Amino acid sequence: MRFIPLALVTAGLLIAGPVMADEALAKKNMCMNCHAIDKKLMGPSFKDIAAKYKGNKEAEKTLTESIAKGSKGKFGAIPMPPQPKAEGDAAALAKWIMSL
Ligand code: HEC
Repeated sequence: MRFIPLALVTAGLLIAGPVMADEALAKKNMCMNCHAIDKKLMGPSFKDIAAKYKGNKEAEKTLTESIAKGSKGKFGAIPMPPQPKAEGDAAALAKWIMSL
C-alpha cells in the first residue's frame, strides 16, 4: 500500500497549486502572440475559452492537454500548434484561464 501516501502528497500539491498562474506566465510562454484576455486574435480570447468550458469538471484537464499537445476544430478553422515548452506551466495556465 505504498502508493496511498504518494497519492495524498500529489493531491496536496494539486490543492496548494502553483501561485504564479497569471498573465506573466502566458507572456513568458508566447501565448499572447495568438491570444488576448478579452479579444480574439489568431486564437480565441481566454475569456471565450473560460466561458465555453464553464461548469465543465474536466475543463482544467482538457485545457492542460490542449496547451501541451495543441488543439483544432474547437473554436474555428485555425489550429493551435502544440506548446511543448509550456508543458510544465500548462496546468497553471489552464487554471488561470478558467479563473477569468
Ligand atoms: C500560433 C498561435 C497560438 C499560440 C502561440 C497559442 N495558441 Fe492557444 N489557440 C490558438 C488557436 C488558433 C486556438 C483554437 C484551436 C481550436 O479551434 O481548437 C487555440 C486554443 C487554445 C485553447 C483552447 C483549447 C481547447 O481545448 O478548447 C487554450 C486553453 C489555449 N489555446 C491556450 C494557449 C496557451 C496557454 C498558450 C501558450 C502556452 C497558447 N494557447 C499559445 C492559437 C495559439
